[in-house]
Amino acid sequence: MSAPRGEFSSRFGFILAASGSAVGLGNIWGFPTQAANNGGAAFLVIYLLMAFGLAYPVLMAELIIGRHAKANAVTAMAVIARGPVSKKLGMGVGYTGIAASCLILCFYSVVAGWMISHFLASLSDIVNLSDFSAWLTSLNLIGNALFALIFLVLTIFIVSGGIKGGIEKWSIRLMPGLLAILLLLIIYVLTLDGAMVGLKAYLLPDFSKAVEPKLMVSALGQAFFSLSLGVGTMLIYGSYVGKGENLVSLGYAVTFLDILISVMAGLLILPAMYVAQYNGVVIYNESGLLIAENTLIFTVLPALFDTMDLVGQWVSMAFFLLMTIAALTSSISMLEVPVAYVVENHKVDRRRASWLIGTVISFMAMIIVVNFELLFGFIVMLTTRYGQPLLGFMLCLFVGWIWHRNRVLDELRKGYVQVEHSLFWKVWPFYIRYICPLAILMVFSQLFIA
Ligand code: PHE
Repeated sequence: MSAPRGEFSSRFGFILAASGSAVGLGNIWGFPTQAANNGGAAFLVIYLLMAFGLAYPVLMAELIIGRHAKANAVTAMAVIARGPVSKKLGMGVGYTGIAASCLILCFYSVVAGWMISHFLASLSDIVNLSDFSAWLTSLNLIGNALFALIFLVLTIFIVSGGIKGGIEKWSIRLMPGLLAILLLLIIYVLTLDGAMVGLKAYLLPDFSKAVEPKLMVSALGQAFFSLSLGVGTMLIYGSYVGKGENLVSLGYAVTFLDILISVMAGLLILPAMYVAQYNGVVIYNESGLLIAENTLIFTVLPALFDTMDLVGQWVSMAFFLLMTIAALTSSISMLEVPVAYVVENHKVDRRRASWLIGTVISFMAMIIVVNFELLFGFIVMLTTRYGQPLLGFMLCLFVGWIWHRNRVLDELRKGYVQVEHSLFWKVWPFYIRYICPLAILMVFSQLFIA
């Protein structure tokens, strides 16, 4: 007999936990950066197309598989298989997802560690500990290692508390805070000189930049990363949803919230960049592109905060707190993937499993910290550019071709009796069978051109 499985206590709990997984550094850092560099609202339009057209259907696939099997990714994929070959293949997809989730957590914790150290640096500035603050923001080896570990310990602590007592409880605590900080920051930044130029750059689409095929790849990758797809996080969260819940509307809610937060983050970051420019900070690099990636968060924004004196230190603290919270509600979903597997399939107690796997991931993260130049970019590319889309492709094949259509319908009917007559059921099965796998392959093939 297996141990009783955890379950989210309410719709609300699931929505906050799953959107907590979705909303992360990808939304608040990745999305605005890409929008800034790729024609503002034009990127937004492409992103919306990718998110609703391709990512949402895959999210639904994960939720349905998870809730049907009520099991971790490996077992769940075996449950929906039809014969021994597809069973092996499915389990392979499950294992690869687990590995990818662990690897994503490794690099994610390094970046999240920087957010914690920048948060503490602003705090130290406020209490006049400027030497300590300078050390914190120097991104040295010891600091990188220490703060990544602190972040991982927080993650392990929450996951070891279980579904209701850990993941759901903390998502309910943290997500409203995230939304409130984000709103306050947007309102504040929009009152500053220069913000309106940024708002225009964001909201007036420049389609000349957005039609390039490479951009489709970025938008798809961004949408998959942002909705936490392919690696089994949404599958495992789906497995904790009660049979009486309407999965279609839950999926909409999570997608909507994820996109909403990305769009809101754009309303913060792009205006902030132009406020920085107004205050004399350089925001374009030599080739005329907006400064992005590391430099945006750790150079441009801190330079902006510096021009704002004491208020700037508080704003900076709020901003890096926002980033830390966003990262934490995502990292717990990454750790849950391997933990659920070990708890269910190897009968290890949750607390032990969380600390055990968390320790292994911490070691791996330390290897990345020490060999940063060599490993960081490589692992990001391996997992997010190749891993997630390919695993998403496999999920489409399983749900569209291998799993019995009537079983999928039966699963959806629980909690949504009328689903057969809904727009969702008219479109989605066709989508997941043909459009999604083909589109993923087409977009993916762009990676090998040029
Ligand atoms: N969706 C998270 C973000 O936007 C990242 C993530 C990827 C979370 C994969 C879980 C699994 O930052």
